[in-house]
Amino acid sequence: MIAPAYTQFLEWVERRAAGEPLAYLVGEAEFRGRVFQVSPDVLIPRPETEVLIELALKKLHGVAAPRILDLGTGSGIVAISLALECPTAQITAVDLSFEAISVARNNAGRLGATVDFRQSDWFENLAGETFDLIVSNPPYVANGDPHLELNGLPFEPQMALTDGADGLNCIRRIVAGAAAHLTPAGWLLFEHGYDQGEASRNLLTTAAFKAAFTHPDLAGIDRVSGAYL
Ligand SMILES: C[S@@+](CC[C@H](N)C(=O)[O-])C[C@H]1O[C@@H](n2cnc3c(N)ncnc32)[C@H](O)[C@@H]1O
Repeated sequence: MIAPAYTQFLEWVERRAAGEPLAYLVGEAEFRGRVFQVSPDVLIPRPETEVLIELALKKLHGVAAPRILDLGTGSGIVAISLALECPTAQITAVDLSFEAISVARNNAGRLGATVDFRQSDWFENLAGETFDLIVSNPPYVANGDPHLELNGLPFEPQMALTDGADGLNCIRRIVAGAAAHLTPAGWLLFEHGYDQGEASRNLLTTAAFKAAFTHPDLAGIDRVSGAYL
């Protein structure tokens, strides 16, 4: 008789050989030293997103009980990491995908984080609410970018990867909507592609944000831009 563990192993080998990412086979991935459950409904956490967390924590320094909004929360890694690393913060996190919200809620429960998760098309279900900090890792790969065919990306949710346009559409919507949801001097920080730093700073400056900057990831690649109101 073949042991069930061996059968499972053979199935994983086959799926891995077909290009499916390991995180989807085992159903989990690590981010900032914590284990998050993942399913094909959510993006697999990327180490470069840690830059967004580090910058957010710096901007929050000295704010007693900050209100934070995470747009496009996916598995919840950004919202949950901030909740655990800034325990006085009140965190709201949204995603267009009900399935992603369910994964994120489950991760928050397992990791002991308190986050108000809601389904929303960016700011749509947040009328009248303001935050001291808005963070986002939005879909920013351009439609038809050959990278979408590589490294297991075809197995990840396309709505998490691409805006279906030039790669800046979601960033445009986030920058345009953020002013109405930020407190005075509140910061907007978002992750973007290696070649989107200049365009991101231009969008921020045109929308009357101040001190627009771009920060590299650990590989030295432009990764996060931000500015304050
Ligand atoms: C790049 S993934 C980021 C996921 C997670 N924050 C992370 O860093 O791993 C982008 C997320 O944005 C969500 N999304 C796409 N369009 C959206 C929209 N119109 N409103 C809200 N969320 C959206 C996707 O479902 C996906 O979970």
